[in-house]
Amino acid sequence: MKTGFIGLGIMGSRMAKNLLQNGVDLAITNRTKEKGDELLAEGAAWFDTPAELAQNTTLVFTMLSTPEVVREVAFGENGFVDKMPKNALWVDCSTVNPSFTREMAKKSEKAGIRFMDAPVSGSLIPAENGELVFLVGGEKKDFEQLEEMFLFMGKNAHYMGENANGTSAKMVVNAMLGQALVAFSECITLGKSLGLDRDKLFKILIGGPLTAPFVGLKKENFINNEYPTEFPLKWMHKDLFLASVSAFENNCALPSLNAGKELYGAAKASGLGDKDMSAVYQYIMEKLNYKI
Ligand SMILES: NC(=O)c1ccc[n+]([C@@H]2O[C@H](COP(=O)([O-])OP(=O)(O)OC[C@H]3O[C@@H](n4cnc5c(N)ncnc54)[C@H](OP(=O)(O)O)[C@@H]3O)[C@@H](O)[C@H]2O)c1
Repeated sequence: MKTGFIGLGIMGSRMAKNLLQNGVDLAITNRTKEKGDELLAEGAAWFDTPAELAQNTTLVFTMLSTPEVVREVAFGENGFVDKMPKNALWVDCSTVNPSFTREMAKKSEKAGIRFMDAPVSGSLIPAENGELVFLVGGEKKDFEQLEEMFLFMGKNAHYMGENANGTSAKMVVNAMLGQALVAFSECITLGKSLGLDRDKLFKILIGGPLTAPFVGLKKENFINNEYPTEFPLKWMHKDLFLASVSAFENNCALPSLNAGKELYGAAKASGLGDKDMSAVYQYIMEKLNYKI
């Protein structure tokens, strides 16, 4: 039986390629077929629907955009879960919220298959280089069975415990990520409003203890005012929304995260949703503070 991969966007296409290049017998499908062309040329097998793919696999990875899309692809018309052989394994790598993951785990159990949540930390380049970090929730023995495959796509795989602990950890990671970028953008804007030179501010802040290293990796984007997409801004807005929902569900107050979420929402509404998440810098600098 083959290993299936559903969802060949920015991340999924590169993760699938690393599986293929490590000798995994791979079956693929995606809403937009052309995104699978390169993988087909390298030996992957194409199936027109998730349901058809599932009948030929005992292991399926999904890397899809939102909880709604995961639910549709898994359980909607042509959904794959009910078509998988009994005791097969579904590994969802999409960034979704923990309560949604628990729902998927329950439904999978009902359908007689095993389920793991395995979202990833790392963006386009780590995905391409096989350097992602997997945050995994589910049965330990399933993790041990899959660890080698995770390491075909990543440099590390952390077993976080029961189902939904992987997606819980991912909520925490992206809450840090999204807010660090907003804090940096606002502080540079403040400095400029005070008449300071932007490049000198970059020198003081980037590489020092105050700025998250990943923000420094976006420096060229800020300088060129161009934001080629590695992590779409609209997905950061989605992730902060899901973190906010998760906080609500667990009686936890996150005022700063919610304010940050709205900045990404406003940037998306202004047309920057498909740009890299670092375009929130452009939004704060040019749209909120256009007089500076
Ligand atoms: N990019 C990053 O840096 C990064 C890093 C870590 C985690 N993530 C997470 O990983 C997931 C995928 O991200 P990405 O950047 O790869 O996104 P992406 O390029 O937008 O890919 C999204 C995938 O979902 C599919 N999809 C969307 N709507 C669909 C629908 N209605 N029916 C069926 N399929 C649908 C897309 O199919 P089409 O190809 O047909 O559009 C594509 O395969 C997201 O949850 C994201 O938050 C992203």
